Amino acid sequence: MLLLEVQSLESGYKILKVLWGIDLYVKPKERVILLGVNGAGKTTLLKTIMGLLKIFNGKIYFEGKDITHLRTDKRVKLGIAYMSEIGIFPNLTVDENLELGAFFLDKKLTNQRKQQMYEYFQDLLKHKKALAGSLSGGQRKMLGIAKLLMSNPKLVVLDEPSNGLSPKFVKSIINILDDLQNKEQFSILIAEQNIAFLDFAQRGYVIDNGKVVVSGNLSDLKLNDIVRKAYFGIEN
Ligand SMILES: Nc1ncnc2c1ncn2[C@@H]1O[C@H](COP(=O)(O)OP(=O)(O)OP(=O)(O)O)[C@@H](O)[C@H]1O
Ligand SMILES: [Mg+2]
Repeated sequence: MLLLEVQSLESGYKILKVLWGIDLYVKPKERVILLGVNGAGKTTLLKTIMGLLKIFNGKIYFEGKDITHLRTDKRVKLGIAYMSEIGIFPNLTVDENLELGAFFLDKKLTNQRKQQMYEYFQDLLKHKKALAGSLSGGQRKMLGIAKLLMSNPKLVVLDEPSNGLSPKFVKSIINILDDLQNKEQFSILIAEQNIAFLDFAQRGYVIDNGKVVVSGNLSDLKLNDIVRKAYFGIEN
């Protein structure tokens, strides 16, 4: 069964339509990348999948269940976790941020999950009581990922996690995601413009002006003219 299935999705902001009939799916344990230039509609698509924007048309299914009109918090409970470009609350401590990620778990399960996250991210344990806003850029990304995983998600939805990070740190984020996914077996849907993520994903979609213009396995995508031009600067 597909984990996530998006059918003929149209959405946007108030009366402005941004997505024009998007079809997309994610299988269990799969890593799927969403490529597209600035303003293509990547964030809009991820927000619509999370229930943060109004759907004009189309359907969204999660594990076969129609979630098109489900509230965001209920989608999170079903197992979809989302990291926006901002990701964390700077005025809360590291520990409090983690707790927010598991808002629907009881205290015992929350504490267990927090222990697991501090085991994965030992640097965060050292800063447990620090305000998230006082962390370095890299540590904030770690906290964003740890917060995301607090809810034991089946699908992790990431909006440009490499944004603002040095190339070296982008590599370490990729390694961390790779390692955590092997351990926890969630699926990943990731919007990225950084080509370092191409080898991380198995399958991808290129969106342009709110439509899917190319999709397929990464090996096929890398040979596609649109992708070669946009991401590798190859003209022909
Ligand atoms: N809050 C908003 N209200 C109105 N229009 C918006 C809003 N947010 C985005 N848009 C418009 O929707 C379109 C798609 O934007 P979106 O943020 O989804 O693109 P993106 O692919 O995520 O781009 P980026 O790579 O810059 O993050 C753009 O034309 C943008 O101007
Ligand atoms: Mg965006």
